[in-house]
Amino acid sequence: MKRIIEVDPWKVVETSLHPEENRLAESLMSIGNGHMGMRGNFEETYTGETHEGTYIGGVYYPDKTRVGWWKNGYPEYFAKVLNAPNVTGIRVVVQNEELDLNTWNVMEFKRELDMRHGLLRRSFTAENGNGEHVQVNVTRFFSIAHPELVAIRYEVTPINFSGTISFQPFLNGDVRNEDANYDEDFWEPVHHEVSEQAGVLTMKTRKTEFEVSAAMRTAVDGGDVSIQAMDDQEEYIDNVMDVAVTEGQPVTFYKYVAVTQSRDYDSAELADKAQGFVTEAFEKGFDHLLQEHQGAWEKRWKKADVTVGGDAEAQQGIRYNIFQLYNTYTGDDPRLNIGPKGFTGEKYGGSTYWDTEAYCLPFYLGTADPAIARNLLIYRYNHLDQARANARKLGLEGALYPMVTMNGEESHNEWEITFEEIHRNGAIAHAIWNYTNYTGDTAYLADYGFEVLAELSRFWASRVNYNSRKDRYMILGVTGPNEYENNVNNNWYTNRIAAWTLEYTLGVALFLERQHGARYYELLDQLGLSSSEFDQWKDIISKMYYPYDEEAGVYLQQDGFLDKEIMPVADLEDKHLPLNQNWSWDRILRSCFIKQADVLQGLYFLNHKFSKEEKKRNYNFYEPMTVHESSLSPCVHSILAAELGYEEKAYEMYVRTARLDLDNYNNDTEDGLHITSMAGSWLSIVHGFAGMRVVDGTLHFNPMIPEAWKDYSFKINFRGHLLKITVTHDETLIEQEEGTPLQLVLNEETRTIEAPKVATP
Ligand code: BGC
Repeated sequence: MKRIIEVDPWKVVETSLHPEENRLAESLMSIGNGHMGMRGNFEETYTGETHEGTYIGGVYYPDKTRVGWWKNGYPEYFAKVLNAPNVTGIRVVVQNEELDLNTWNVMEFKRELDMRHGLLRRSFTAENGNGEHVQVNVTRFFSIAHPELVAIRYEVTPINFSGTISFQPFLNGDVRNEDANYDEDFWEPVHHEVSEQAGVLTMKTRKTEFEVSAAMRTAVDGGDVSIQAMDDQEEYIDNVMDVAVTEGQPVTFYKYVAVTQSRDYDSAELADKAQGFVTEAFEKGFDHLLQEHQGAWEKRWKKADVTVGGDAEAQQGIRYNIFQLYNTYTGDDPRLNIGPKGFTGEKYGGSTYWDTEAYCLPFYLGTADPAIARNLLIYRYNHLDQARANARKLGLEGALYPMVTMNGEESHNEWEITFEEIHRNGAIAHAIWNYTNYTGDTAYLADYGFEVLAELSRFWASRVNYNSRKDRYMILGVTGPNEYENNVNNNWYTNRIAAWTLEYTLGVALFLERQHGARYYELLDQLGLSSSEFDQWKDIISKMYYPYDEEAGVYLQQDGFLDKEIMPVADLEDKHLPLNQNWSWDRILRSCFIKQADVLQGLYFLNHKFSKEEKKRNYNFYEPMTVHESSLSPCVHSILAAELGYEEKAYEMYVRTARLDLDNYNNDTEDGLHITSMAGSWLSIVHGFAGMRVVDGTLHFNPMIPEAWKDYSFKINFRGHLLKITVTHDETLIEQEEGTPLQLVLNEETRTIEAPKVATP
C-alpha cells in the first residue's frame, strides 16, 4: 500500500510534492463534470514525471489494431479514449525564469481535491535560482452548472521582489496518446485565432472527424498588464502578458475556457459557440461561476452523500468514490457512458464495458433520478443493430453486445475476451430487470426492453449446443467473469445467466401479452418471434447443464475445475502476488486462482434464487482462492460476506474497494482511477452492510454495521420517495425526506415510513 494523501472526510490532500509519485497524484486529483475532465496536472510547466491528460466525453479514436496473428472476426480497430487538447495550461515566467516545480526549490506544496465543492486547489511557495520567492494559490473547476466550462484562478504573490511576472495562457492541440499503437498523431488542426486575452482553437480527430473547439478569455487583477506577443500557430495559441508586480502584493490571473464539440453542435458554428460560452463566463466572473458550481455540488451531495461515523478512512473512501463517479457520468446524455478510467487516464480504450450494467447502474438508480439509469439502458437499446451485426459476424443469431465499445461496435481484440466473454449479454438483461424491478417502470419493457431481451435470448439459443448423450445444453469455449481462465467449457456463471435471461424474457413476454397486448403482438411481428422459438427457449432452460460437485456441494466454476491443484491464496508466498505481475499467463491459466467473483457473481446477481447455506458453501470454497486482481472483485465479496454474517471479511473487502485508488492497492492507479469499481463501494454499503434488496417492488433492509464504525447513513431515491437510512449499533432509523407514506420491510418486519412532517420545497 502506498499512501501519498492525508485522510480527511471531504478532501484528498497531498501535503508535499511527490516527484516520483506525481503520476499517481495526478490520477487521484482528477476532476471532471460528466462531459469532460482531466488529470490533476499543473497549469504551469512541469518538466518532471507527468502524464498530461484531458478527455472529452464521446470523442474517441479508432486506433489501428495491433495483433500478431489476425483471426477472422476481429474488430478492425482498438478504440482509444482520446487525449484532447490541453486547455488549462498557463506558463508563468517570474523575472525571466520559467516557473517549474521540477527545477525550482519548492518550500511548501499542497494539492487538494475539495470533494464537497468540486474543486482542485494548489498552493505552494517556491524559489528560483536567483532567490526570488513566489507564493502561489490555484483553484480550478470543471463546471457542473455549465458543462462546457472550465475556470481557473491563479494567484501569485512575489514575496521578496518587485518586477515582472509573465503569464502565458495557451491552448495546445499538439497532444498525443501515450498508448497509441503506432505513435500516430490523432488530431489535425482546423482553425485558430488569437486576440488580446482571448483566442480559439479548433482541432479535428483523424478518421472519426470529431471536431473540438476551445475558446479562452483571460483577466488580471492587481497589476498592470501589457501584451508582449501573441502566438498564433496551427495547433497552439497563446498570449504573452507581462504584469508589473510589487513585493508582497498578490496578482490574480483568471483563465476561462469553453469547450464545444461536433457531437453537440454543427461544425460550422463550433468556434462561435465556444466563444459565446466563454464570453458569458468571462462576464459573470470567477466568483459567480464558482457559486453556481458549488451550489450544484451541494444539491448533488444532498441526495448522494453517504456518512460513516467513527472511521475517517472509510468516510473519505466512499465520498471519493461517489465524487469520481459523478465526475465521470451525470446521465443527461444517453450517448455517453462510464469508462473504467473515466476522464482520468487512457488505459482500457473504450468507454463501455459490462461494468456499467453490472456495477454502476444500481448506484445511479439509488442516488439519482430514474431517468439517468434509464439513459444507460437506452444507450444499449440504441446499439441493438450493431449488436445484431456483431452476432452475425460470429455466425450467431440474435444480438451480442460488444465487450468494449465507443459507438456500439466491438472495439477490443483479444480473442479470449472479445469472442469469449459473452457473459456480458447476461449483465445487460440483468440491468433491465434491475431497473424495472427498482423503479416499477414496466412500460420500459414494452417500449424498449423486450426487443433487447428477445435478441439476447436468441443469441443464447444459438450459442448453446445440445449434447444428446447427456440430454443437456452446453456452452463451450467461453471466458467467464474470472479472466484468469480462458476458453473453458460450461462456465457455471455463463450457463446460469444465459438460462436466467431466457426465463426472464419469457416472463416479460407473458407480462406484455397480458398488460400491453397490442404492443406485444406488434413486437412479435416486428421481431419475427413465434411460439416454436419460445418452446426452444423453454427446452434450453429445463435442460441447461450446470457443473456441480456433490461432495463439496458447490457449483463448479467450469468443467474440470477440480482437476486443478486446489489451494488457498494464503498458502502463496508474498513474492508471487500480484500474480499478473509475477507469473506467466500460462501459469495463471493452469492455476486455481481466481481474478474476480465468478460463481459468486452469479450468487450476488441472482441472490433470491439461492439459499443462505448454498451461498455460504460456495463463498467458503471460492473466496480463499480469489486474488481480487480486478478492481471489480472485492465489492461483490464484501456484499456476500455481509449477507452471510462474515463481518470482518465484509469490512476488509469494503476498505479494499473504497480505498483502492486512494491507497493504490493494485499499484496501477498512476494509469488512472478505477471508476467503474467505485460504484462497488456504494453497493458494499447499501446492498452489503444495509442489506438492501427490492423484492416484488418492496424495499427490504437487513442491516449490520462494521464494528469499527459508530454509525453510517445513506439516502436512496425509490419510486418517488427520498429515504434516509441511518444505522447504528443499536438501531436502524429510516426517515422519509420526500414522498407519501411507504411500506417496507426492515429485518423481516413490515413497517410504514411516514411522510416527512415538514413539506419539502
Ligand atoms: C476485468 C473485467 C472488466 C475490465 C474493465 C478487467 O480487469 O476483469 O471484468 O470489465 O477490467 O473494468
